[in-house]
Amino acid sequence: MANKKIRRLGILTGGGDCPGLNAVIRGVAKPALNDHGLTIVGIEDGFEGFVEGRMREISRDDIAGIIGEGGTILGTSNKGDPFHYPSEGLHGIEIVDASQRVLKHYKGWGLDALITIGGDGTMHISNKLSDLGMNIVGVPKTIDNDLEATDQTFGFDTALSIATEAIDRLHTTASAHHRVMVIEVMGRYAGWIALEAGLAGGADIILIPEIAFNWESVMRRVIERRIVVRESDVKRTDPIRFGGIGEHVGRRITEETGLETRTTILGHLQRGGSPTAYDRVLATRYGTKAVDLALNGEFGRMVSLRGLNVTSVTIKEAISKQRLVPINGEIINTSRAVGTSFGDE
Ligand code: F6P
Repeated sequence: MANKKIRRLGILTGGGDCPGLNAVIRGVAKPALNDHGLTIVGIEDGFEGFVEGRMREISRDDIAGIIGEGGTILGTSNKGDPFHYPSEGLHGIEIVDASQRVLKHYKGWGLDALITIGGDGTMHISNKLSDLGMNIVGVPKTIDNDLEATDQTFGFDTALSIATEAIDRLHTTASAHHRVMVIEVMGRYAGWIALEAGLAGGADIILIPEIAFNWESVMRRVIERRIVVRESDVKRTDPIRFGGIGEHVGRRITEETGLETRTTILGHLQRGGSPTAYDRVLATRYGTKAVDLALNGEFGRMVSLRGLNVTSVTIKEAISKQRLVPINGEIINTSRAVGTSFGDE
């Protein structure tokens, strides 16, 4: 299917939503419709909609005014892996390989190429669909910023801003009540949001999955801060690693120190709402670059930011390595230099 002139371009958003998805869709659709006369076919609800054939043409009206909107006009899903697709069978729900149904819809809609906007899971699926002969260009999305093949995913900057603002707000209420405040942020196996929001928000302790912490060290720092509590105010925030651990840490601090502690789980607030200016720009650059790659027949590739430039890497390379916080890296050293504890001293 490669090297054929591109006339019909499919686009889908997969996995969890992320601020900037609409800006990418617009970044793809504007040049595709206005400059290259392509037809854009939007696939609804990610790969789930692709398996089910829920697709529609995207017009200029569809993309008007969406650059600053959160969510995705196409809808998304993180449950529709076509290679492990839940289907009603004789004995209840069975997991089947529905990839041929995707291929059928790809051909049925006359698609010459497909742009998939998603994170790790979406890129794994894209890689397998490429192997089946589909012409795919990927765009890296995730608030977790955990793809090694790009210096930054779009969505991360917005999540970071939201988490930083939350920490700022917690400082004032913590100070008013002389309380210990624990904040749990997202990020899965990567501590980027916790690290950078904690640094930007002046957290005393940051716990991230990459650095093993010990309770003794955490409590020692909490008690040191307690002295400050008595004399002036308290500023404590702990971005944590896995869902639910915030409550656990908060409870343990109260039990071991007797200090009044409150935990905030920021959750999906980090993914909702309008993208920052940085994410709008990055998402637009990714979208337009994805169209260029498709028009040049450079399939099986994902757009990527390297330094200040948008370039591309193979999707295979993109899925080969997670991008975790380097534990002896500059940003960790910077945090330690300004007195942040990682609970490992
Ligand atoms: O990968 C993005 C992310 O927001 C993670 O940080 C988080 O662990 C997960 O998705 C939450 O997924 P869901 O929206 O399915 O609860």
